Amino acid sequence: MCWRPWSEAWQDSLYGDAGLYRQPAGPAGHFATSAQGIPGGGALLAAAVDSLADAHGCRAVVDFAAGRGELLTELAHRGTARTLIGVDVVDRPADLPASIDWLRSPGGATLPSALAGLSKTLVIAHEWLDVVPCEIAEFDGVRWRRVEVDDNGTERLGNALDPANTEWLQRHWPAPSAAGERAEVGRTRDLAVADLRSRMASGLLILVDYGHLHDDRPRHGSLTGFRDGRQQAPRPDGSTDVTAHVAMDSLGADRLVCQRDLFAELDLEPPRPAITLASSDPPAYLRQLAQRSAYGQLTARGGLGDFWWALTTIS
Ligand SMILES: C[S@@+](CC[C@H](N)C(=O)[O-])C[C@H]1O[C@@H](n2cnc3c(N)ncnc32)[C@H](O)[C@@H]1O
Repeated sequence: MCWRPWSEAWQDSLYGDAGLYRQPAGPAGHFATSAQGIPGGGALLAAAVDSLADAHGCRAVVDFAAGRGELLTELAHRGTARTLIGVDVVDRPADLPASIDWLRSPGGATLPSALAGLSKTLVIAHEWLDVVPCEIAEFDGVRWRRVEVDDNGTERLGNALDPANTEWLQRHWPAPSAAGERAEVGRTRDLAVADLRSRMASGLLILVDYGHLHDDRPRHGSLTGFRDGRQQAPRPDGSTDVTAHVAMDSLGADRLVCQRDLFAELDLEPPRPAITLASSDPPAYLRQLAQRSAYGQLTARGGLGDFWWALTTIS
């Protein structure tokens, strides 16, 4: 039986040699995101990115934690003149359009050293931070302790949480009121964001994720797993995605806005197709209906519309 802090087991299970994200199935093999798995969703996300890149005068787009390059492929299909670069933990996917460059990354909170000096660049990290491993803590009635896990996902309480992570909880997490409350310590994520930001000389940094703000923290934690399209108990053995919601307000962004409000602001809602189109041009009618359906899914309350966009201008 090998007991490890969740943070270590999580890192190994997603980014070790046999880690989940290094496997051929990629993220799309386990779950859908706005970028992939929802018909028309990737195109809509790409429209949002293009619009923000225009507004900020960005000449390049880096998709950090790009999966298998789905969002960048949509951007390429829009005929963008911008340089497109994907970063993820695998080699460049063979079927990417030739115009997309690719950088291989170590994974988790660690960034590739070659990613540096980005100027006039929009960097988007879409659903990266929720899979950056962090310490899982549980309050024992007196103090926060690290939660340890074995390969089967069985947990036990370990030693007292170290001072740096305890200090993060004191700043960013409401004080616990009862034994058994849990916290996901966002310190590693904040540091990873600071590192990504330091690689940019100018442009716009966008972090998109499901998450929470100080008064809305999940007092019993949000750590969970996904395998083959289903939500499962998290198992740190390379078979299951391991993810936890992100403390969005500790990332130091200039602005936080939910996806639903941002898409409305960017005027992305496709018009309702005229009913006469159904007989004059049925394929166009169906296409427009599909675009509206994608917009509905990506802006839904209680769903993808609640995703946070953390935006920071760098100049
Ligand atoms: C939840 S998936 C999201 C993929 C894609 N952005 C999307 O929204 O469909 C998380 C991705 O983050 C990648 N990832 C995690 N840490 C990374 C790192 N340090 N550098 C690059 N990619 C990373 C994983 O390999 C995985 O492809």
